[in-house]
Amino acid sequence: MSTTTLPSPADASLRTHAEQLIRGRRAIRAFRPDPVPDETLRSVFSLAGAAPSNSNTQPWCVEVVSGSARDRLGADLRVAHEAGRMTPDYPYDEAMYSDIHNERRAAAGAAMYGALGIGREDHAARAAYDVESLDFYGAPHVALLFLPSSAEVRMAADVGMYGQTLLLALTAHGIASCPQGLLSFYADTVRRSLDVPEDRKLLLGISFGYADPSAPVNSITVPRADLSETTRFTE
Ligand SMILES: Cc1cc2nc3c(=O)[nH]c(=O)nc-3n(C[C@H](O)[C@H](O)[C@H](O)COP(=O)(O)O)c2cc1C
Repeated sequence: MSTTTLPSPADASLRTHAEQLIRGRRAIRAFRPDPVPDETLRSVFSLAGAAPSNSNTQPWCVEVVSGSARDRLGADLRVAHEAGRMTPDYPYDEAMYSDIHNERRAAAGAAMYGALGIGREDHAARAAYDVESLDFYGAPHVALLFLPSSAEVRMAADVGMYGQTLLLALTAHGIASCPQGLLSFYADTVRRSLDVPEDRKLLLGISFGYADPSAPVNSITVPRADLSETTRFTE
């Protein structure tokens, strides 16, 4: 068993770095093609593995996909999309969103499509952009986060923890990312393309690489709800 030093509550530089790291991460949707070096990939994914989980179960199974496997997967996803072959392992129903959730979704969508110059009613252009996103927004890598098929809903909390830890580890290494729930709608295609066993269920994909700073879509920031809307402090 290894030991580490606990952070001191008075360590202001840690707070500053945490602020930069957490607020500095954003969803990035245009990437340069150059790949992340192997050694950096291993550092990032090793750091992400420090995520907490229930009783330290670490139930995530992660596929990191690059190079020709990434290109094949992107092509397979677009074929599946054109054939209407959606096979999500976890059901999706828009009814799960309340009015306030829908307001926030609409605001985030307006910021993204606005930066792309796609109008609110231009459903064809929006759909075309969705298809483009199946090529991981041009990112040279994608990580697919799976759960064991025995998982119950609370295990998604563990994988969610892992996902955010991964996003922050990437950010700390200067690597941009976009979580893509959309990829999980094509779970069978992903499993087949990557030869992943049937008993792994797909929760989320995260595309990543170096950001294209010239892309207008990368300049958007979406606001967060006021603290009082989401959080209650009780004594
Ligand atoms: C679980 C999850 C699924 C997401 N799915 C998608 C997706 O399919 N496509 C996409 O472009 N962005 C997706 N996002 C990114 C969100 O739209 C983004 O995180 C949110 O608008 C907040 O913006 P920010 O990450 O820039 O702070 C997803 C984020 C999460 C956490």
